[in-house]
This record gives sequence, structure tokens and C-alpha cells, in this order.
Amino acid sequence: MDPVRFIGNFSSGKMGYAIAEELADHGASVVLVSGVTALKTKHPNIRRVDVVTAQEMYEACIDNYANCDGGIMTAAVADFTPLTPEDKKVKRGKENYSIELTPTKDIAASLGRAKTNSQFLVGFALETNDEEFNAKSKLEKKNLDFIVLNSLNDTGAGFQYDTNKISIIDREGSVKKFDLKPKREVAKDIVTEIINLYKK
Ligand code: CTP
Repeated sequence: MDPVRFIGNFSSGKMGYAIAEELADHGASVVLVSGVTALKTKHPNIRRVDVVTAQEMYEACIDNYANCDGGIMTAAVADFTPLTPEDKKVKRGKENYSIELTPTKDIAASLGRAKTNSQFLVGFALETNDEEFNAKSKLEKKNLDFIVLNSLNDTGAGFQYDTNKISIIDREGSVKKFDLKPKREVAKDIVTEIINLYKK
């Protein structure tokens, strides 16, 4: 918005880091495109690319995806960004204050269009209502191999928690429901599902 403020959300990045670590433990060379977070990783198989804006995340993903076997889109990317950020800090004293927002690029959908037959693409959906219906339509729209659904209606699931409760929906429409568990365990379930894609 201005040099000291940005539009963010409650996402901690923990799910993405857990998946990166799990893949790296399986021997994968992982490129971890990370938004602003206090999380750290020291795994030798993980190369971290730090970004701030949704546009930077888009560029980093586009640059790297062609050389990867697949992509896992865990980031809670902002869908809108300020059209004209202020170059000086906005001062108090205004009556009301509106900011014009413009849409960001849908990174997962862009990678879905670029995806080749030998690549996979996994997305996430965080929903508050009509969860399975919305997740299935994102799976189609973004050309994903499967989508990981978490609902804000499940206690202990989603932003900030160290636990998550997911369902995995595949292209055939089958829905696998998992119990609430630590994000590192959830990452194992997701990586197992990726390994299963290669068995199909
Ligand atoms: N995603 C993305 N780029 C964006 C927004 C979302 O790559 N600009 C990805 C997320 O990382 C996730 C999937 O798309 O894997 C679904 O994100 P979500 O926020 O649930 O859905 P949106 O497509 O943004 O739709 P909406 O916010 O309208 O529900």
C-alpha cells in the first residue's frame, strides 16, 4: 500500500514448508518459493526463493516450473493488489480512505496452462462454504492433478495452526478425507498422493 504497509493474510506458510521438507527428505531437489514468513529451512535439498509481492511470486514460479517435475501451490496468494501504491507513508487525518485494487495473476492457473504431460500440479483450496463443490471447480479451472481442501469450519485446520485437516479430491472426483494431524504428517499424506500419481 505504501513503503511500510502491505495487504496480507493469516497464512503462516507452515503447510508449504512442511511439504518442502517432506519432499526433500524423499530426495527431491525442491525450489521453495516463499512469501514473507519467519519460518526457516536448512535442508540441503531445498533452494529457497524469497518474494514479497504476488507478481514476484508469479515470476519466480514461471521461471522455475519448466525445470521441475511438478508444482505444489500452497501459498495463500492475494487476489488483489493496490493499483497505485503510495511512494510515501500515508498519514493519518483523512476522513475515509479508499484504495483501488487490481487483480493479481492466478499463478496456479498459469502453471496449469503451461503444464506438460510429464508434470504434475497440486493446488490447495481454503473454503468457508460449499467446500467440495468450490474445490472441484478450482481443480478443473486450474488444470490440477488433485486439490487439497481445508475448511475454515474445521477446528484446528487452516491458518496459523500446527495441525490441519484435509480432504484430497482427484480428477475422477474421488474424495479422501483425513483426520486432524500435525502439518508434517499432513505433508506425508500429500507426498504419498503425489507418489501415487506416478503409479497411475
Ligand atoms: N492461487 C494462485 N494464485 C493466486 C491465487 C490462488 O496460484 N493469485 C492458488 C493457491 O495457491 C491455491 C489455489 O490457487 O493452490 C486456490 O486458491 P484459493 O485462494 O482457494 O482460490 P482462488 O483461485 O484465489 O479463488 P477464490 O479466492 O475466489 O476462492
